[in-house]
Amino acid sequence: MAGSSGRRRWTAAEVPDLRGKTAVVTGANSGIGFETTRVLADRGATVIMACRNPVKAEAARTRVLAESPEADVHLLELDLNSLASARKAADALVTERPTIDIAINNAGVIMLPHGQTEDGFEQHFGVNHLAHFAFTGLILPAVLASSAGRIVTVGSNGHRMGRLDFDDLPFEQGYKPLRGYGRSKLANLMFAYELHRRLAAAGASAISLAAHPGGANTDAGGFGGDSMKRWSALMDHIPNPIVHSAHKGALPLLRAAVDPAAKGGDYYGPRGLLTMTGPPVVVKSNARSRDTDSARRLWEVSEDLTGVTFPL
Ligand SMILES: NC(=O)c1ccc[n+]([C@@H]2O[C@H](COP(=O)([O-])OP(=O)(O)OC[C@H]3O[C@@H](n4cnc5c(N)ncnc54)[C@H](OP(=O)(O)O)[C@@H]3O)[C@@H](O)[C@H]2O)c1
Repeated sequence: MAGSSGRRRWTAAEVPDLRGKTAVVTGANSGIGFETTRVLADRGATVIMACRNPVKAEAARTRVLAESPEADVHLLELDLNSLASARKAADALVTERPTIDIAINNAGVIMLPHGQTEDGFEQHFGVNHLAHFAFTGLILPAVLASSAGRIVTVGSNGHRMGRLDFDDLPFEQGYKPLRGYGRSKLANLMFAYELHRRLAAAGASAISLAAHPGGANTDAGGFGGDSMKRWSALMDHIPNPIVHSAHKGALPLLRAAVDPAAKGGDYYGPRGLLTMTGPPVVVKSNARSRDTDSARRLWEVSEDLTGVTFPL
C-alpha cells in the first residue's frame, strides 16, 4: 500500500477486507456518503447508514444490495437538524452496536439561505457541526471499544471562507450562505483536530481524522444537479481540474478510514490543483483550523450548546 506521501495513486482497490468491522456513515443515502458506504459494504463491513429520510435511505440501501448482494447494510434514522434526533439515534446505535470501528461524519447542508435548526442554531453550524459533535460524543464509548477506532469528519475547501465569531454564532451581524457554510466546515476541521488531541492525551487507541472530497459531482456539490449527475461517470474520463465524480470524491474519506499509514489529526483530500481533484493524499488546511485555543473554546461552546460532554 502506498504511504500517505507515496506516488502511487490510491484507489478503492486499496480498501482491505473489512469483514468483522462495523462502520456508521451519516448522510449515507447520496453523494459522497453513498459512495463511501458502497465501497465499505462491498469490502464486507457492516455499514449503518445514518440518514434523515427513511424512503431515500431504503432506496440507497437497495442500490448497495443490488451491487453487493452479500452486503450487511442497516438503516438508522438520524436528522441532524435536531439534537433530540441525534441523541435518539446515538442511543439506539450504541445499544445495538457496542463496538464501532469507523464513524464517518459526512452529512451536510451546503450554502443554504439563513435558517435555523429545531434547536434554534444557525443551520449550517447546527447540522454540520453541533449535531455531529453531539452524535460523536454519544457514540464515542462504542468507538473506544474498538481496538483501532477511527472517526473521520468531512471538511471542505470552504473552511477557508469561515470565521468563528463566538460573539455572533447566529449571524445577527449579517449572513451570507458561503460564510455560514464556511464557518461550519472550519468547525468540522477544528473539531476533528481537537478530538485527535484529546484522544491522544487520553492514550486512546482510537484516532480522529478529517477528509474532504474536493469538487465532487453530487446533489450538494452544486455542479449542475440532476442534469449533470447522469454524466458523473463520464467526468472521470474528461480532464477537469475542478470537478470529479462522487466516487473519486469519496476516496479521501475512505483512505482516512482505512489506510494503515493514516495518523490522527491527518487531513485527506485530492492531490490536484487547489486540492479539487486527483487521488487522495494528506493535504493542508489553513492556520485558523489548526488554532488550538479557538478549538478548545469551540469544544466548550459545543458542549454547552448541545449538553453533550465527551468522556475525554
Ligand atoms: N460535493 C462537493 O463538491 C463537496 C465539497 C466539499 C465538501 N463536501 C462535503 O461532503 C459532504 C457530503 O456532501 P455531498 O456533496 O455528498 O452532498 P449530498 O449528495 O447532498 O449529500 C448530503 C447528505 O447529507 C444529508 N443531510 C443533509 N441534511 C441532513 C440532516 N439534517 N440530517 C441528516 N442528514 C442530512 C443528505 O440527506 P438528504 O438526501 O435527505 O438531503 C445527504 O445524504 C458534506 O459534508 C459536504 O459539506 C462536498
